[in-house]
Amino acid sequence: MALIDSHGRTINYVRLAITDRCNLRCTYCMPQSGIDFVSRDDLLSYEEMLRLLKIFKSLEVTKLRITGGEPLVRKGIIEFLEEIKAQQIMDGFYLTTNATTTLPHIQRLVDAGLQSVNISLDTLDKNKFLDITKRDQLDNVLASMNAFYQLDVPLKVNMVVTKGSNEADIIPMAQLAEHRNIQVRFLEEMPFNGVNEVKTQFMTHHDILHKLKTSLPNMTSKPFQYGSTSQNYSVEGWKGDVGIIASYSRTFCGSCNRLRVTPTGQLKTCLYGKNDLNLRNLLRNGSSDAEVKQAIIHAVANKPVDGISAERSRFTTISESMATIGG
Ligand code: 5AD
Ligand code: SF4
Repeated sequence: MALIDSHGRTINYVRLAITDRCNLRCTYCMPQSGIDFVSRDDLLSYEEMLRLLKIFKSLEVTKLRITGGEPLVRKGIIEFLEEIKAQQIMDGFYLTTNATTTLPHIQRLVDAGLQSVNISLDTLDKNKFLDITKRDQLDNVLASMNAFYQLDVPLKVNMVVTKGSNEADIIPMAQLAEHRNIQVRFLEEMPFNGVNEVKTQFMTHHDILHKLKTSLPNMTSKPFQYGSTSQNYSVEGWKGDVGIIASYSRTFCGSCNRLRVTPTGQLKTCLYGKNDLNLRNLLRNGSSDAEVKQAIIHAVANKPVDGISAERSRFTTISESMATIGG
């Protein structure tokens, strides 16, 4: 039985955030110190996640993204991915990572079914990387990126564009796609920075497009793909392409096909919305698979029509970190 929401959208994609921890401290994602990471007992265990994924599979959710926090910082992650494959729960997985610690694990990730990787990277400048992430890790990210590329793992690079910080890096980052078949995507900054502070100044997707077009006049828009969040562009003569994700303006909700499970097992039917269902409670209170399934069907039926109305329906203003929600 497929999951269909009350707006007619088929939901077949789950983003599973397996930890809220991270070895970086990107300014737009979390404060540099004083973060309350959740304790281990509050995280879903790998066994609970395997059970949940089987339930999702029975609901025809076929696409799985592993995200966080930084997924690679949770112990046992590789074995977990290998178990998903061994039990044939999903046809592979997608991974979102900061790529600082992936290098030694790439072959195992590929063998476990890695289908493509999204690398979060906001600059190619060593000092600015340190500025943004508070850690000196750019070389490790670049080494990992090269290794994924050498192994033909489809690669996307996600850059969060932060006004007054890395605007000047937009073109150098785009140029990563000039000689390589990768996609470089530019994201609007969202308010999920772990502090209750509203940013009034940010670069919109229009601003980003303008900046790109000014330097790359031979850029042409590609057809929008259903279920995608990015509007992609090709550049004449380039091997790869570029994309813009209107993550704050929320222009793409009409074809949304996704659900999120937070590290503590909260189901979110929209990134901007409230927690819709406490899956962890159900998994721990003796509920049967059929009962969990029914609860998911019910939550999905009530998925908000878009991220704007989801935000309006929240009980509180946004103060979470992207890492506690799942990027
Ligand atoms: N705004 C936009 N994107 C963000 N990410 C993390 N925090 C924010 C934010 N405040 C991005 C990361 C990564 C993905 C998981 O989410 O850079 O690419
Ligand atoms: Fe870590 Fe990603 Fe958040 Fe940066 S944006 S601190 S890499 S989880």
